Amino acid sequence: MDDEQNLTAWVVYESFFGNTESIAGAIASGLRLEHVAATALDVADAGVGETDGCDLLVVGGPTHAFALSRPSTRDDAMARGGDDRYAGGGLREWLSALPVQDGTRLAAVFDTRVRMVRHLPASAARSAAHLMRQHRFTLIARPTGFLVHDVEGPLDQREMERAVAWGRSLAREAQERIAAGREPA
Ligand SMILES: Cc1cc2nc3c(=O)[nH]c(=O)nc-3n(C[C@H](O)[C@H](O)[C@H](O)COP(=O)(O)O)c2cc1C
Repeated sequence: MDDEQNLTAWVVYESFFGNTESIAGAIASGLRLEHVAATALDVADAGVGETDGCDLLVVGGPTHAFALSRPSTRDDAMARGGDDRYAGGGLREWLSALPVQDGTRLAAVFDTRVRMVRHLPASAARSAAHLMRQHRFTLIARPTGFLVHDVEGPLDQREMERAVAWGRSLAREAQERIAAGREPA
């Protein structure tokens, strides 16, 4: 039980209009409800190595042109009044710079998007999942999307509740996997 309460998690996000930031905060709240020490962190403030050593790394960003943002889509977002703190690089660049893991580090990915695309896999979360797998993280949940009404939002209130519930489910999954990994063979 003590071990479960000692798990740590970062929820690293990119957000131009505040919607993904809100979802990241709700996911961190859900994790904390299950006794994981979780902190939401803007990727623009995430130093190199800052998340090393945590038990669970959750990352999420807005879907831009069916993927994680790129310099050209960030320019579009800023032209619409979005935050300019990612002008020098966003979640894609931060993930790309992460060290390759040994396969035991746990992770989960999410995004925000205007439409729920159930069968078309093109989204920021899928693009983040690809990068995480390339860096040999183990994903403990399917890439998950949260719905905004338009480019600038707002979020549906139900999505905040869903994000808290998703955070709780991530905590339970991480706790089970880490406990199983500690059991003697
Ligand atoms: C340049 C640009 C491209 C976008 N492309 C997509 C897209 O391909 N699919 C989609 O569902 N939403 C798209 N959107 C809407 C974003 O997903 C939405 O702005 C985002 O979820 C808001 O989150 P934020 O407030 O955290 O930035 C796009 C938005 C911008 C600014």
